[in-house]
Parts: sequence; C-alpha cells; structure tokens
Amino acid sequence: MNQEDRIDQSGAWQALERHAGQMRDVHLRELFATQGRFARFSREAAGLMLDLSKQRWSDETFALLLALAREAEVPQAITRLLDGERVNRSEDRPALHTALRLPESARLEVEGEDLVPAVHATLAQMQRMVDKLHAGQWRGATGKAISDVVNLGVGGSDLGPLMVTHALADYHPEGVHEVQVHFASTMDGSQLADYLSRLNPETTLFVLSSKSFTTIDTLSNARTARDWLYARLVCSRSDAGNGAAAEIDRALVMRQHFIGVSASPDKMSEWGIAAANQLEFWEWVGGRYSLWGAIGLPIALVVGMDNFRALLDGAHAMDRHFREAPLEDNLPVLLGLAGIWNVNFLDIRAHSILPYDGRLEYFAAYLEQLEMESNGKSVTNDGQVTPYSTCPVLWGQLGPNAQHAFYQLLHQGTQPVECDFIAPMRRYDRVEDDATRAHLKAQHRLTLANCFAQSRLLMLGDDAIDEDGPRPSHKRYRGNQPSTTLLLERLSPATLGALIALYEHKVFVQATIWGINPFDQWGVELGKQIAGETEQILSSHVGLERMDDSSRGLIEALWAAERKAES
Ligand code: F6P
Repeated sequence: MNQEDRIDQSGAWQALERHAGQMRDVHLRELFATQGRFARFSREAAGLMLDLSKQRWSDETFALLLALAREAEVPQAITRLLDGERVNRSEDRPALHTALRLPESARLEVEGEDLVPAVHATLAQMQRMVDKLHAGQWRGATGKAISDVVNLGVGGSDLGPLMVTHALADYHPEGVHEVQVHFASTMDGSQLADYLSRLNPETTLFVLSSKSFTTIDTLSNARTARDWLYARLVCSRSDAGNGAAAEIDRALVMRQHFIGVSASPDKMSEWGIAAANQLEFWEWVGGRYSLWGAIGLPIALVVGMDNFRALLDGAHAMDRHFREAPLEDNLPVLLGLAGIWNVNFLDIRAHSILPYDGRLEYFAAYLEQLEMESNGKSVTNDGQVTPYSTCPVLWGQLGPNAQHAFYQLLHQGTQPVECDFIAPMRRYDRVEDDATRAHLKAQHRLTLANCFAQSRLLMLGDDAIDEDGPRPSHKRYRGNQPSTTLLLERLSPATLGALIALYEHKVFVQATIWGINPFDQWGVELGKQIAGETEQILSSHVGLERMDDSSRGLIEALWAAERKAES
C-alpha cells in the first residue's frame, strides 16, 4: 500500500483531519478558559520539564494523536531503533547512536556482536588522549606542551562538539594544563586563517573530524593546516634540547600535531594520521548523531572525561525513558506529536528554537541540522512521494536577542510559527563573589520572566494585558501562536545530554509517522558532485559551454575580476 492510500485508510489521520476542521478557528485563549491545562499537558523526565499546554490542542486532539502514534506503530519502531535493527533502510544499517551512551555494564548484541566493549574501548582511548593533554604531556614536535586544539570538521563533525563545548563551558575541570579548543568548519578557510594568524604552530594540535574522511570542506582545511605546520616546524635543529628531536621531519609533525576521528581508519592512514592517533567510530553512527563518541573529543577536552560521561548518562536516561514510558507520558513522543499536529493539521510549517541562556548559543544551529537533514524528505521508505508535509523550516537564535530581531514577525507577521522556549531554572549558584552572584541571579530571573512573558503573549495576544481602551491596529497582537516550553533543572552535562537525546528521538518519532528515513541525507550529495565539476571549470577554463546562462555569467564575471586583479 502506498503512503497516499495509507493516509486515506488511516482512521487516526482521517479523524485528526476532521477534528482539525473544528480546531483551526479555536484560539488558545479559549482553550485556556478550561482550568488545569498545565497539569494535563506537562510532563517530566531525566531532569527536564516539558510544558505542552500552549499547543493549540485539546484533550481530544491529544487522544487522537496518541491513536495516530499507535497506528503508526511508534512503540514497535522505538524498540527496533534501540535494539539495533536496520532502521536506516536506504543504507541498510542500524542507527545506533544510543549504543554510544550505554553504560559499560550493558550488553547490546546486534547481529551477533556485543557493541558495548568497542564503544567503551574508544572512550578509554579518548580518556588517555585527554589525560595526556590535560597533564601537559602531549608535546608538539619542538617539545613544547600543546596549548591549543583546533577541530577541523563540518556538519555533524563540528556542530555537536561546538554546541556542547559552549553550553558546558562552566564545567571546566580544575587543576589541569590549560588547553584551548577552537573550531574551524568553513571551506573558505576564513576561520582557519584567523587561527593560523594567532596560534603558535609549536603548541597547536589539529583534530581532523570526519566520519567519511572524504569531505572536501574538512580536507581542504586540513591540507592548509598541515602545510602551515610543515613550513614552520620541519627543520634540522642544532639547538635541540629539552628532549626535543634534533631533526623535525614531516612524520614527527604528523605524529605530534594531528589526531584523526573517522569511521574510515584506512583513509586516516592514507592521509598520514599515525595509527596511535586514530579514534574510530562506526558506520552505524550518523554524522549528526555522532557527538556521543570519538567526535566528542573536543567536548571531553573542554569539560573533562567525567563530565563527558555524565553527558552520556543524561542521554542514556532519556533513551530509557523513550523505551519504557507509555506514549502519553513519553517526552520525545509528545514533542514529536505536537510537531505533527502543527505541520500536518494546522498548516504551521515554521518552527523557531529559542533558548533563554547564552550558553545555548549554538543549540538552534545544531537542531537545524538534526531536524532538517534528518526529516527534510519528500519520499517515503517505500519510494513514494509523501502526500503531506514533513519537516518544517526550523531556525532560531538566543531568545533574548531574537526578541530584538525577528520576534516582530512572531507577534505581528503573517506566518504561523511554532516556538520552542528552552531555559534552565537554576543558574549562577557557583559564582563565588556574593555581590556578583546576586546580580547575575537577578539577570537570570529577568531572563526567565522574558521567556515566560513571550510565550504568554504569543499565546494570548492582546489579552495578555489588561488595558482600558482598544489600541490602533498596528499595535495589536493576535496571539494564537503555539509554543512548547522546556525547563531544565539546571544546564548540566546530564540535562544537556537528555535534552539533545529528547530532540533526536522526537525526530525519529516524526519520521516514523511520516514513513520516511531520518538517517540518510542523499539530498546533499548531488550538490557536492556539481561543485566538483564547477571547480574543474573554474580552474581549467574548459567546459564553460556546458553551463546554463546564469552560471556562465557568474563564472565569466569571476574570471573578469581575476584578470583585472592580475593586470
Ligand atoms: O554533507 C552532509 C554531511 O555528510 C553530514 O551529514 C555530515 O555531518 C557532514 O557532511 C560531515 O561529514 P563527514 O563527517 O563525513 O566529514
């Protein structure tokens, strides 16, 4: 049966469509006329509190959505995912990011092999590397201790570690040799060039993070970094002392200044990464789901291995909740269903991520990849075009800053938008100085007041405030924008782990209902191929006639600019 027929014959989908007909004109303020919405539509698990009461739904909607989840066999799909079945159908493999956060005592036998020992062997190898760097014992080729680590990666090999290292910057381990961690992802080299102009090659180590080890963005940054080191370090030294080598050759530079993280050890070796400096992970870990293992090395360097393990434990707590909690209390299931309701039944196809904590600066960018690269699909698992919308357009920014930027559209624009507000309840407990702590705590309270006020105003519009007379139309707020609020007890390794896992599983729940594969990303491949061909034309000046009129015009403009610069 194709997807269209399935929808036609889906009792739950049809019932939701009929029900949506009645709900579309119901304003959130009417829904809040009944008492007890917060109690009915909020849930807690793994240090997170999820308030879904500001969704434009009723008890009936909720029941119908749960019926849809059951009809789509979400519980069975969860078991298949966590048990390691080949849920990534187009690539015929499991999607086992959850295995990366299993405790050492667990067993997960997949196709005859227990995966847990290999996962923990990698964690142990990471621990040895982190310990060596934190002890100041990892020395560059000239004998000086490494002080700066630059992660070269892009997409999942960049965004996860970047986001988490920012979020957990307060969790720096004490008493260790200081190592600064930096990230360079852009293929234009602008981020890297900035680091190269500031860092000391003698004390800089690069981590090449690439699941495939073929990504041109990362490899071109890596080549630039390698040649920068060769040019500055390779030499014969008459003044060698302090245990430094008298001769610094390329092999020594590679050994002391590069770590590789990849699912392809062969490619790492081919590139020259020393065997001892290779951290491996597995094809069954998707790039955007990979921060939990070796790709998380920069995280472990910033927060220490104990906190990294706490991050894994938090995610594992959410995995257990996902497997065990009944659908009606299951946070990822409910978050996923809220999205389905908005996209497929209320026609709300824009979704904004709004963290109210500066440490979550990169969280929206991280979710943009997680959600849109996973569920930005229009073909079902059985090759049919989906007869309904899938992933909404997702974007976001720190909420307090966005209030002074795009909230205008949320409040008075023409687009309906679903918003996720995310904030920790406790902050600044560890600030030592009393006066500063009091100020910062007051700032935190102010931030939460803004967070709660914005979701209330989006919900109620003009009714959020008592006023005497009517306002002119340009000062009016219609409200009725649905939102979710997620409160963390505090932002810690464990709650952050749970938060990320919550969204990973939300994506899976939605993909299951939409009948699509969230674990491949074929939509990014053709662009890479065409970029390669275009690059050939740019450098060889051969084949321009194959281009369309616009591309030809752009290339000719570029060549003209190059000629002008040369003359
Ligand atoms: O081009 C998309 C993508 O494959 C992402 O899925 C991935 O996270 C990113 O590129 C980086 O890939 P790799 O880790 O193989 O370099």
